[in-house]
Amino acid sequence: MMDQIGVVNIGGIEWKNPVATAAGTFVCDESSNHFDPASLGAITTKGVSAEPWHGNPMPRIAETPSGMLNSVGLENPGVDAYIDGELRALKDMGATVIANVAGHSTEEYMDVCRKLDETDVDMLELNVSCPNVREGGMSFGTDTETLSRLTEKVRAVTGKPLIVKLSPNVTDIAELAVATERAGADALSLINTLLGMRIDTRTGRPVLANLTGGLSGPAIRPVAVRMVYEVAQRVHIPIIGMGGIMTGEDALEFLLAGASAVAVGTAALIDPAAPARVARELAGLAHGTYREVHS
Ligand SMILES: Cc1cc2nc3c(=O)[nH]c(=O)nc-3n(C[C@H](O)[C@H](O)[C@H](O)COP(=O)(O)O)c2cc1C
Repeated sequence: MMDQIGVVNIGGIEWKNPVATAAGTFVCDESSNHFDPASLGAITTKGVSAEPWHGNPMPRIAETPSGMLNSVGLENPGVDAYIDGELRALKDMGATVIANVAGHSTEEYMDVCRKLDETDVDMLELNVSCPNVREGGMSFGTDTETLSRLTEKVRAVTGKPLIVKLSPNVTDIAELAVATERAGADALSLINTLLGMRIDTRTGRPVLANLTGGLSGPAIRPVAVRMVYEVAQRVHIPIIGMGGIMTGEDALEFLLAGASAVAVGTAALIDPAAPARVARELAGLAHGTYREVHS
């Protein structure tokens, strides 16, 4: 167990600190104006699929108490453009990069991972928990059998360290975590967004064009901490905890719950420099409580 908050090893890859960006909230061109991507433990990029996806119709963002709903639907330029564009740029900047992988089918996940296997990306993260796509996404991450099969198939086509990102929209997240570990995952990340909905009381219509969306931000933090705690009791692979982390102290809460590292998402949509600030604040925290719990 770490006795200080510094370098961590996640699935065989050394991170210089335990803070990453959460998928979908780091945009290379913009975010790298606010902090050095190489200063973080890792940069997780937005979900990438075999072909370009256009995402869901607007509006796809809504504010909620202490959080937000999004139904972006994994809009992305496809894996070829990603490899030549964002991945290249981030590797040139010296960042440790996690590619978040999306798919509508097992074959599609496998195709993307095969292509990424031939690049210098550091780690792959399977997004089997997006609530905003009709086929694939969350439907892969809420059934133990389906998730195990997908993890095994992807494991067979890549030697890259494999992170599986779990959905909170399940009854027993620890059961899925155990099955994923057995199927060959090197690490787990949790949680993705919680399925939510808002209705405009003036029009009587849903606020999001997609009707429902994923809830993120501080509103989901206690749920995320509870889920990290439950999963940490049952698996031996590292956990990357996320959900509403706004400060270094929030990040510490996840480490105390059993995560080896954390990721910052929605906070970066309010303050683009938030991931680097959280890393600084975490490093600056007194380590007394942390050591006590982990010794
Ligand atoms: C606008 C937006 C886009 C997201 N896109 C992705 C994505 O592409 N892949 C993924 O696995 N998670 C995606 N997420 C989920 C986040 O990575 C994270 O798991 C979740 O928002 C909880 O963390 P947070 O409360 O710090 O945002 C997205 C979240 C937001 C708010």
